[in-house]
Amino acid sequence: MTEKKEILRIENLNITIKNGSKRFHVLKDVSFTVREGERWAIAGESGAGKSMTMNAMTSLLPEESTEMTGKILFSTKDGGWQDLLALSYKERRKFVSEQIAIIFQDSINALNPNERIMKQWGETIRLHRPSLSQAELENHILDQMDIFGIRGGRETLQHFPDQLSGGMRQRIAIAMALESQARILIADEPTTSLDAISQRNTIEFIRKLLETKQWTLLFISHNLGILQSMCDHIIIMKDGAIVEQGTTDDLFYHPKEPYTRQLVRETMKIMGSSEALV
Ligand SMILES: Nc1ncnc2c1ncn2[C@@H]1O[C@H](COP(=O)(O)OP(=O)(O)O)[C@@H](O)[C@H]1O
Ligand SMILES: [Mg+2]
Repeated sequence: MTEKKEILRIENLNITIKNGSKRFHVLKDVSFTVREGERWAIAGESGAGKSMTMNAMTSLLPEESTEMTGKILFSTKDGGWQDLLALSYKERRKFVSEQIAIIFQDSINALNPNERIMKQWGETIRLHRPSLSQAELENHILDQMDIFGIRGGRETLQHFPDQLSGGMRQRIAIAMALESQARILIADEPTTSLDAISQRNTIEFIRKLLETKQWTLLFISHNLGILQSMCDHIIIMKDGAIVEQGTTDDLFYHPKEPYTRQLVRETMKIMGSSEALV
Protein backbone atom coordinates (compact mmCIF):
# COMPACT_ATOMS: atom_id res chain seq x y z
CA MET A 1 0.00 0.00 0.00
CA THR A 2 1.38 3.44 -0.88
CA GLU A 3 1.65 5.89 2.00
CA LYS A 4 -0.61 8.88 1.67
CA LYS A 5 1.13 12.17 0.99
CA GLU A 6 1.83 14.52 3.90
CA ILE A 7 -0.15 17.71 3.43
CA LEU A 8 0.36 19.69 6.64
CA ARG A 9 3.16 19.69 9.21
CA ILE A 10 3.10 21.70 12.39
CA GLU A 11 6.52 21.72 14.05
CA ASN A 12 7.20 22.99 17.58
CA LEU A 13 4.64 25.74 17.33
CA ASN A 14 4.82 28.18 20.24
CA ILE A 15 2.56 31.18 20.68
CA THR A 16 2.93 34.00 23.15
CA ILE A 17 0.24 36.64 23.43
CA LYS A 18 1.31 40.09 24.53
CA ASN A 19 -1.20 42.17 26.40
CA GLY A 20 0.31 45.44 27.66
CA SER A 21 3.29 44.42 29.79
CA LYS A 22 1.88 40.90 30.30
CA ARG A 23 2.85 37.89 28.22
CA PHE A 24 0.92 34.63 28.03
CA HIS A 25 2.59 31.51 26.66
CA VAL A 26 -0.62 29.98 25.27
CA LEU A 27 0.71 27.32 22.86
CA LYS A 28 3.63 25.11 23.85
CA ASP A 29 5.64 23.05 21.38
CA VAL A 30 2.67 21.80 19.37
CA SER A 31 3.70 19.33 16.63
CA PHE A 32 1.67 17.04 14.39
CA THR A 33 1.59 15.80 10.79
CA VAL A 34 -1.52 15.34 8.66
CA ARG A 35 -1.69 13.25 5.47
CA GLU A 36 -3.99 13.83 2.53
CA GLY A 37 -7.58 12.71 3.17
CA GLU A 38 -7.10 12.11 6.90
CA ARG A 39 -9.67 13.32 9.41
CA TRP A 40 -8.04 14.83 12.47
CA ALA A 41 -9.73 15.90 15.66
CA ILE A 42 -8.43 18.36 18.21
CA ALA A 43 -10.07 17.75 21.56
CA GLY A 44 -9.66 19.01 25.10
CA GLU A 45 -11.46 21.10 27.68
CA SER A 46 -12.19 24.79 27.23
CA GLY A 47 -9.02 26.92 27.27
CA ALA A 48 -6.79 24.01 26.16
CA GLY A 49 -5.47 25.88 23.10
CA LYS A 50 -7.61 24.29 20.36
CA SER A 51 -8.78 27.53 18.77
CA MET A 52 -5.34 29.06 19.21
CA THR A 53 -3.87 26.20 17.13
CA MET A 54 -6.49 26.67 14.44
CA ASN A 55 -6.16 30.45 14.44
CA ALA A 56 -2.41 30.13 13.95
CA MET A 57 -2.91 27.76 11.01
CA THR A 58 -5.50 30.04 9.44
CA SER A 59 -3.59 33.21 10.14
CA LEU A 60 -6.36 34.72 12.21
CA LEU A 61 -4.26 35.95 15.12
CA PRO A 62 -3.60 39.70 15.32
CA GLU A 63 -0.08 40.33 14.10
CA GLU A 64 0.81 43.06 16.59
CA SER A 65 0.08 41.14 19.78
CA THR A 66 1.12 37.61 18.79
CA GLU A 67 4.58 36.08 18.82
CA MET A 68 4.91 32.76 17.00
CA THR A 69 7.87 30.44 16.67
CA GLY A 70 8.14 27.04 15.02
CA LYS A 71 6.84 26.01 11.63
CA ILE A 72 3.44 25.71 9.96
CA LEU A 73 4.26 23.81 6.77
CA PHE A 74 1.89 23.23 3.86
CA SER A 75 2.85 20.90 1.01
CA THR A 76 3.03 22.67 -2.34
CA LYS A 77 2.13 21.45 -5.82
CA ASP A 78 5.79 21.06 -6.79
CA GLY A 79 6.35 18.62 -3.95
CA GLY A 80 8.04 21.11 -1.62
CA TRP A 81 6.91 22.84 1.57
CA GLN A 82 5.78 26.38 2.32
CA ASP A 83 6.24 27.63 5.88
CA LEU A 84 3.36 29.94 6.67
CA LEU A 85 5.42 31.80 9.24
CA ALA A 86 8.06 32.62 6.61
CA LEU A 87 5.51 34.69 4.65
CA SER A 88 4.53 38.29 5.31
CA TYR A 89 1.20 38.74 7.09
CA LYS A 90 -0.53 39.73 3.85
CA GLU A 91 0.91 36.84 1.83
CA ARG A 92 -0.01 34.51 4.63
CA ARG A 93 -3.69 35.52 4.54
CA LYS A 94 -3.83 35.02 0.77
CA PHE A 95 -2.08 31.64 0.94
CA VAL A 96 -4.43 30.42 3.67
CA SER A 97 -7.56 31.51 1.81
CA GLU A 98 -6.47 29.31 -1.10
CA GLN A 99 -5.57 26.31 1.05
CA ILE A 100 -8.13 26.16 3.83
CA ALA A 101 -11.91 26.34 4.08
CA ILE A 102 -13.00 27.37 7.56
CA ILE A 103 -16.19 26.78 9.53
CA PHE A 104 -16.46 28.55 12.87
CA GLN A 105 -18.56 28.14 15.94
CA ASP A 106 -20.35 31.31 14.98
CA SER A 107 -20.45 30.74 11.22
CA ILE A 108 -24.16 31.45 11.53
CA ASN A 109 -23.21 35.00 12.35
CA ALA A 110 -20.72 35.13 9.51
CA LEU A 111 -23.65 35.62 7.14
CA ASN A 112 -24.35 39.25 6.38
CA PRO A 113 -27.72 40.08 8.04
CA ASN A 114 -28.45 42.84 5.53
CA GLU A 115 -28.12 40.85 2.34
CA ARG A 116 -30.35 38.21 0.83
CA ILE A 117 -28.88 34.68 0.82
CA MET A 118 -28.77 34.60 -2.99
CA LYS A 119 -26.62 37.72 -3.17
CA GLN A 120 -24.02 36.68 -0.60
CA TRP A 121 -23.82 33.06 -1.73
CA GLY A 122 -23.48 34.20 -5.35
CA GLU A 123 -20.69 36.62 -4.48
CA THR A 124 -18.80 33.90 -2.63
CA ILE A 125 -18.97 31.63 -5.67
CA ARG A 126 -17.90 34.38 -8.06
CA LEU A 127 -14.82 34.94 -5.92
CA HIS A 128 -13.64 31.45 -6.79
CA ARG A 129 -15.26 30.95 -10.20
CA PRO A 130 -15.64 34.36 -11.85
CA SER A 131 -16.51 32.98 -15.30
CA LEU A 132 -19.86 31.34 -14.35
CA SER A 133 -22.96 32.75 -16.05
CA GLN A 134 -25.90 33.83 -13.89
CA ALA A 135 -27.88 30.74 -14.94
CA GLU A 136 -24.97 28.41 -14.13
CA LEU A 137 -24.52 30.15 -10.81
CA GLU A 138 -28.18 29.68 -9.87
CA ASN A 139 -28.20 26.05 -10.94
CA HIS A 140 -25.06 25.42 -8.93
CA ILE A 141 -26.60 26.96 -5.82
CA LEU A 142 -29.82 24.93 -6.23
CA ASP A 143 -27.74 21.74 -6.60
CA GLN A 144 -25.76 22.60 -3.47
CA MET A 145 -28.99 23.25 -1.57
CA ASP A 146 -30.06 19.70 -2.42
CA ILE A 147 -26.76 18.25 -1.25
CA PHE A 148 -26.76 20.28 1.96
CA GLY A 149 -30.42 19.67 2.75
CA ILE A 150 -31.34 23.34 2.52
CA ARG A 151 -35.04 23.43 1.75
CA GLY A 152 -37.26 25.97 0.04
CA GLY A 153 -35.43 26.45 -3.28
CA ARG A 154 -35.47 29.91 -4.82
CA GLU A 155 -37.76 31.22 -2.09
CA THR A 156 -35.15 30.50 0.59
CA LEU A 157 -32.54 32.29 -1.49
CA GLN A 158 -34.63 35.46 -1.43
CA HIS A 159 -34.68 35.48 2.38
CA PHE A 160 -32.45 37.43 4.73
CA PRO A 161 -30.47 35.28 7.23
CA ASP A 162 -32.66 36.11 10.23
CA GLN A 163 -35.74 34.79 8.41
CA LEU A 164 -34.22 31.29 8.57
CA SER A 165 -33.65 28.88 11.48
CA GLY A 166 -30.22 28.57 13.15
CA GLY A 167 -29.70 25.09 11.68
CA MET A 168 -30.53 26.31 8.19
CA ARG A 169 -28.21 29.31 8.50
CA GLN A 170 -25.37 27.08 9.69
CA ARG A 171 -25.85 24.76 6.69
CA ILE A 172 -25.79 27.72 4.33
CA ALA A 173 -22.65 29.05 6.03
CA ILE A 174 -21.03 25.61 5.70
CA ALA A 175 -22.10 25.29 2.05
CA MET A 176 -20.66 28.74 1.36
CA ALA A 177 -17.37 27.93 3.14
CA LEU A 178 -17.05 24.82 0.98
CA GLU A 179 -17.33 26.82 -2.25
CA SER A 180 -13.63 27.49 -1.79
CA GLN A 181 -11.33 25.21 -3.78
CA ALA A 182 -9.34 24.49 -0.63
CA ARG A 183 -7.80 21.12 0.13
CA ILE A 184 -8.22 21.35 3.87
CA LEU A 185 -11.36 21.96 5.90
CA ILE A 186 -11.03 23.24 9.45
CA ALA A 187 -14.11 23.34 11.65
CA ASP A 188 -13.91 24.92 15.11
CA GLU A 189 -16.85 23.75 17.26
CA PRO A 190 -19.21 24.28 14.31
CA THR A 191 -22.28 23.07 16.17
CA THR A 192 -21.75 24.50 19.64
CA SER A 193 -24.12 27.42 19.12
CA LEU A 194 -26.95 25.19 17.83
CA ASP A 195 -29.73 23.47 19.76
CA ALA A 196 -29.36 19.72 20.40
CA ILE A 197 -31.40 18.57 17.42
CA SER A 198 -29.76 20.90 14.90
CA GLN A 199 -26.44 19.88 16.41
CA ARG A 200 -27.08 16.19 15.76
CA ASN A 201 -28.41 16.88 12.25
CA THR A 202 -25.46 19.06 11.32
CA ILE A 203 -22.90 16.51 12.55
CA GLU A 204 -24.69 13.71 10.72
CA PHE A 205 -24.74 15.86 7.66
CA ILE A 206 -21.02 16.79 7.77
CA ARG A 207 -20.25 13.09 8.31
CA LYS A 208 -22.25 12.10 5.21
CA LEU A 209 -20.69 14.87 3.19
CA LEU A 210 -17.22 13.69 4.11
CA GLU A 211 -18.01 10.16 2.93
CA THR A 212 -18.28 11.51 -0.61
CA LYS A 213 -15.47 14.08 -0.54
CA GLN A 214 -11.72 13.78 -0.37
CA TRP A 215 -11.14 16.74 1.93
CA THR A 216 -8.57 16.61 4.64
CA LEU A 217 -10.33 17.55 7.85
CA LEU A 218 -9.35 19.15 11.13
CA PHE A 219 -12.34 19.13 13.45
CA ILE A 220 -12.13 20.91 16.77
CA SER A 221 -14.51 20.07 19.57
CA HIS A 222 -14.63 19.63 23.33
CA ASN A 223 -17.02 16.74 22.66
CA LEU A 224 -14.96 13.60 22.23
CA GLY A 225 -18.07 11.60 21.31
CA ILE A 226 -18.70 13.67 18.17
CA LEU A 227 -15.04 13.36 17.22
CA GLN A 228 -14.97 9.60 17.57
CA SER A 229 -17.68 9.20 14.94
CA MET A 230 -16.06 11.60 12.47
CA CYS A 231 -12.29 11.37 12.78
CA ASP A 232 -9.57 8.78 12.28
CA HIS A 233 -6.93 10.62 14.34
CA ILE A 234 -7.25 12.57 17.58
CA ILE A 235 -5.05 15.13 19.30
CA ILE A 236 -5.76 15.72 22.98
CA MET A 237 -4.73 19.14 24.27
CA LYS A 238 -4.48 20.58 27.75
CA ASP A 239 -3.01 23.87 29.00
CA GLY A 240 -1.69 24.82 25.55
CA ALA A 241 0.17 21.57 24.91
CA ILE A 242 -0.55 18.23 23.25
CA VAL A 243 -1.08 15.54 25.88
CA GLU A 244 -1.42 12.65 23.46
CA GLN A 245 -2.08 12.04 19.76
CA GLY A 246 -2.80 8.96 17.69
CA THR A 247 -5.45 7.06 15.80
CA THR A 248 -8.97 7.30 17.17
CA ASP A 249 -8.95 3.58 17.97
CA ASP A 250 -5.65 3.81 19.83
CA LEU A 251 -6.81 6.77 21.89
CA PHE A 252 -10.15 5.22 22.75
CA TYR A 253 -8.98 1.64 23.30
CA HIS A 254 -5.34 2.03 24.37
CA PRO A 255 -4.90 5.52 25.84
CA LYS A 256 -1.44 6.03 27.33
CA GLU A 257 -1.94 9.19 29.36
CA PRO A 258 -4.10 9.37 32.51
CA TYR A 259 -5.73 12.58 31.19
CA THR A 260 -6.80 10.85 27.95
CA ARG A 261 -8.13 7.91 29.96
CA GLN A 262 -10.18 10.28 32.09
CA LEU A 263 -11.63 12.08 29.04
CA VAL A 264 -12.52 8.80 27.33
CA ARG A 265 -14.14 7.48 30.48
CA GLU A 266 -16.24 10.65 30.85
CA THR A 267 -17.22 10.50 27.17
CA MET A 268 -18.29 6.89 27.46
CA LYS A 269 -20.41 7.72 30.48
CA ILE A 270 -22.17 10.50 28.56
CA MET A 271 -22.64 8.31 25.50
CA GLY A 272 -24.12 5.59 27.72
CA SER A 273 -21.80 2.95 26.35
CA SER A 274 -21.93 -0.36 28.19
CA GLU A 275 -18.48 -1.25 26.83
CA ALA A 276 -15.76 -0.91 29.44
CA LEU A 277 -12.92 0.58 27.47
CA VAL A 278 -10.41 1.77 30.00
N1 LIG B 1 -5.98 37.58 23.89
C1 LIG B 1 -5.57 36.70 24.80
N2 LIG B 1 -4.75 37.08 25.80
C2 LIG B 1 -4.30 36.19 26.71
N3 LIG B 1 -4.66 34.90 26.74
C3 LIG B 1 -5.47 34.47 25.78
C4 LIG B 1 -6.00 35.32 24.76
N4 LIG B 1 -6.80 34.59 23.94
C5 LIG B 1 -6.79 33.34 24.44
N5 LIG B 1 -6.02 33.27 25.54
C6 LIG B 1 -5.74 32.06 26.36
O1 LIG B 1 -5.23 31.04 25.53
C7 LIG B 1 -5.63 29.77 26.03
C8 LIG B 1 -6.16 28.94 24.89
O2 LIG B 1 -7.36 29.46 24.40
P1 LIG B 1 -8.20 28.78 23.22
O3 LIG B 1 -7.27 28.29 22.18
O4 LIG B 1 -9.24 29.74 22.83
O5 LIG B 1 -8.86 27.53 23.98
P2 LIG B 1 -9.94 26.46 23.43
O6 LIG B 1 -10.28 26.78 22.04
O7 LIG B 1 -9.24 25.14 23.60
O8 LIG B 1 -11.10 26.56 24.36
C9 LIG B 1 -6.67 30.03 27.11
O9 LIG B 1 -6.05 29.81 28.36
C10 LIG B 1 -7.02 31.49 26.93
O10 LIG B 1 -7.32 32.06 28.18
MG1 LIG C 1 -12.14 27.30 21.18
